Amino acid sequence: MARLRIGLIGWGTVGSALGRLVAAGPLPLELACLAVRDPAATRSSPLPDGVAVVTPEDVARAGLDAVVELAGGTEEPLGWARTALDAGTPYVTANKALLATHGEELSALARQRGAALLASASVGGGVPMLETVHHLAATGAIGRLRGVLNATTTYMLSAMGEGMTYGDALREAQTAGYAEADASLDVDGRDAAQKLAILASEAWGQWRSESQVERHGIRGLEVTEGQVIRLVAEATEQTLAVAPKEVERGSALGATSGIDNLLEIEVRAGGIFRIGGPGAGGRVTAGAVYADLARLVSGERPILFGGNA
Ligand code: NAP
Ligand code: HSE
Repeated sequence: MARLRIGLIGWGTVGSALGRLVAAGPLPLELACLAVRDPAATRSSPLPDGVAVVTPEDVARAGLDAVVELAGGTEEPLGWARTALDAGTPYVTANKALLATHGEELSALARQRGAALLASASVGGGVPMLETVHHLAATGAIGRLRGVLNATTTYMLSAMGEGMTYGDALREAQTAGYAEADASLDVDGRDAAQKLAILASEAWGQWRSESQVERHGIRGLEVTEGQVIRLVAEATEQTLAVAPKEVERGSALGATSGIDNLLEIEVRAGGIFRIGGPGAGGRVTAGAVYADLARLVSGERPILFGGNA
């Protein structure tokens, strides 16, 4: 197997966990360069010795075998992704905000230049939801998607159902590295809406943006002890919605707790398929990025929103 030289943008919760996986193997990967916002910052995971620290723009135009973006945000990453894809460099990211805003353009550019675009970690953390939806979409028979796609709010709502306050539950989710850098994305339902738009785009072969999702978050929600409320994301080919809902404790959605994500995929004349597991955190999310890199190492060149043809 050929050695893959990668450039990494971001050394936070997910980026530093990916760095540890790359160093540990077994894939033949070499971390060629790295970018962060503030190279001089004191950090719990120090930047690795012997790896060039450059700007994100330098990473994007370095002509590497892949660029991995684990920084977050929308407009700056759009520039990095355009630069890399335009040069034919495979682009791997966990950035759902970028894909639910500019995914159509980036997928088209990737197809034009024959560059791979992969984003398993953008939905479901470590759970291969996008791959499963892609697989089931091959027959064109997905009728509905329904799930719990945001770990921070599941963590908060399950803790609040056991008596914790909203503020304490949010602080715990932030300290553990589950929440977005701007946690309003989690509690206002935007993170779940971005993930739903990405899944729906893959399910029905027509790109949807976050702005097409009707959205209600959990800000200020009160949960009485014993009540089971989850931030439920639901899509058909025509409608996309995210809202907090009371669910049966014994149901698949009601059984989620902590950082669980769960997706139900209803296939016409095929029944309901379920996939779930840990939806956030450095190690599990980096595992999904690593799995994308494994596909590149083995010579695959998948393009997100590229269809099944
Ligand atoms: P994080 O801990 O806040 O780390 C972000 C990293 O990116 C930091 O190293 C930061 O640099 C760097 N960065 C941010 N903006 C930058 C810029 N403009 N230029 C250069 N570097 C920049 O974030 P995270 O939790 O790892 O999340 C990263 C991405 O993964 C996000 O898109 C997020 O939505 C996604 N994601 C996260 C999880 C999770 O569980 N955390 C799960 C799935 C997907 P400094 O270190 O200098 O600040
Ligand atoms: N903030 C996100 C969540 C991280 O809580 O689900 C995983 O995408």
